[in-house]
Amino acid sequence: MPSSKKTISLINDSLSSELSIKDASVGPSVVDLANLNKDTGLFTFDPSYSSTASCESKVTYIDGDEGILEYRGYPIEQLANKSTYLEVSYLLFNGELPKKEELSEFRHNVKHNMVLDSNLKQLFTGFLPNAHPMGMLMSSVAALSTIYHEDIDIRNPHHREAFFFNVLGKMPVLVATIFNQINGTKIGSYNEERSYAENILTLFFDGRGDYEINPVFSQALDILLVLHADHEQNCSTSSVRLTGSSGTNPYAAIAAGIAALWGPSHGGANEAVVRMLKEIGSPKNIPTYIEKAKDKSDPFKLMGFGHRVYKNFDPRATIIRGECHKVLGQLNQDNNPMFELALQLEEIALNDQYFVDRNLYPNVDFYSGVIYQAMGIPKEMFTVIFALARTVGWATHWCEMMENPALKIGRPRQLYLGSEKRDYISIDQR
Ligand code: ACO
Repeated sequence: MPSSKKTISLINDSLSSELSIKDASVGPSVVDLANLNKDTGLFTFDPSYSSTASCESKVTYIDGDEGILEYRGYPIEQLANKSTYLEVSYLLFNGELPKKEELSEFRHNVKHNMVLDSNLKQLFTGFLPNAHPMGMLMSSVAALSTIYHEDIDIRNPHHREAFFFNVLGKMPVLVATIFNQINGTKIGSYNEERSYAENILTLFFDGRGDYEINPVFSQALDILLVLHADHEQNCSTSSVRLTGSSGTNPYAAIAAGIAALWGPSHGGANEAVVRMLKEIGSPKNIPTYIEKAKDKSDPFKLMGFGHRVYKNFDPRATIIRGECHKVLGQLNQDNNPMFELALQLEEIALNDQYFVDRNLYPNVDFYSGVIYQAMGIPKEMFTVIFALARTVGWATHWCEMMENPALKIGRPRQLYLGSEKRDYISIDQR
């Protein structure tokens, strides 16, 4: 990491620590706290990591004040408009955009891994009929670790690359298997002639062989996958890194990322938005729900609103809102009631002082469900598709972390507020 000559002195009674400042290539510098405890006996306290950079990374850059998101330096708007999910995956993993033959080889490597072991297929027969698809995805990715463990040397770059392509290839098949299981339908077949997004639609809907791909759907899906591919050190990616830092099996680390993504404060918000819009039901109820969201004694929050990093707008939400117009327009559903309700809710919230004062804007999850629903995808699958898209980000961050020969296990400390030392009292004397 580039280091500037600047330092910060921290003095505690007679002890002091000279903390060096490390400069980023773009964006805020960081204070290096590695020696703080050794020099002063103090730890830092930042339980939700609001002011903490947990690692060095070259993958994704976000400027939350300006609404900027870049993968490897390329603005998300350009990638969403001009690129494709597999090209973006290549970019995230390799750091550069591919030449034609490089992309074709990359695509082949992903395709080559799109076959499920028969034992893994059996796993799906054990789930209850009402099993949540995210639980099924997490379990099935964790189950990949039962197949791929003896032969993986996580310190070997070739093994890491093999893991990367394997998880990228397996994920769409696992997701499509889950989709068809909950729908009671048969999975479609991969078609080499088709794009990645077209193939996902084919695997989802073409079990009978008569599904016609709507190009507006496949383009919108590809854009959604690009927008969800990575987002620097968010909760799920940090979970993959922290879990992976112990040297665990990489499929197990990805399963940890899926677990983190499921929560409604993170990727689970896309499903929660649709539940919320259904509950609100009609524009006339919006003011009641806005008041509930502002009431601190009420647990209700406006789902799909707010973000830890974006304090101006989420560039992904802007792109997805535009895609909603395109998809619904193509379906002659310009007046789609759920989209109308979401638009009105956004407008009312953005003009409410509570949301203005706290810089709360729609995030990536606010509008994505409208598109998925229009495609015929049930709400329980929304976060699963998010996980499918984010797998490339998780795997890239895991590989980046493992490249560091000096990698240490992630091990935060705590502010202990429990009892002081006391003696055990036998049960009959308490
Ligand atoms: N509705 C109502 N109030 C909100 C909301 C919301 N959606 N989000 C934040 N606030 C309020 C908080 O209550 C807090 O108010 P206060 O200052 O009066 O106490 C203030 O805004 C700041 O919010 P924090 O909770 O401190 O923000 P934080 O960065 O910790 O949380 C989060 C971010 C989790 C995204 C939050 O905004 C939220 O819960 N949003 C709804 C869930 C959601 O959409 N999650 C998806 C995020 S995108 C993603 O992960 C893919």
